[in-house]
Amino acid sequence: MKKILVILLVAFVLIQFFPIDKNNPAPTPQLDFLTIKNTPESTAKLIRTGCYDCHSNESKYPWYSNFQPVAWFLKDHIDEGRRKLNFSTFATYEPKRQAHKLHEVVEMIENGEMPLDSYVLIHSDAKYTEAQKQELIKYFTKMENDIRLTHNLPAEQKK
Ligand code: HEC
Repeated sequence: MKKILVILLVAFVLIQFFPIDKNNPAPTPQLDFLTIKNTPESTAKLIRTGCYDCHSNESKYPWYSNFQPVAWFLKDHIDEGRRKLNFSTFATYEPKRQAHKLHEVVEMIENGEMPLDSYVLIHSDAKYTEAQKQELIKYFTKMENDIRLTHNLPAEQKK
């Protein structure tokens, strides 16, 4: 028993030598979703609080991101979140992709899939009220429809 504890402790100490990279990519406000859309401040705040840690280049790293293996878990979410949808570089997406991503955003919020449960558990301010959810759904739906109208893109089939 004691031996196992010592091994675990040594392992815990050793993994601390493999920290995550906490350097965010350089800011690109001219490509940022909230900036180019001139999102109303109250809505923008909800999106920043609930999504920007994983879906932007403006991730904030809390104190526990100094500890492995928690930090690896967190970094994984950030890397994957950015790969799937990065609000900081939204303007670089083709209009069709922009509309599709916003469509998915609405679905994710409607189904309560985003923000991730593990995130909301720790970031209680990212737990939206029903009214806030409706505000976001309305806003993102409008943004999606605007892009579809401007670029003559057909509506997406509801899944
Ligand atoms: C803790 C990190 C985290 C937060 C916070 C978060 N996401 Fe995600 N998101 C992810 C990860 C990781 C994935 C990819 C895996 C998955 O789909 O579950 C993802 C996937 C998505 C996708 C799917 C994209 C695709 O192409 O499949 C959408 C849309 C999305 N998130 C929107 C949001 C929105 C909107 C918010 C805020 C309301 C949000 N997310 C908050 C981590 C996060």
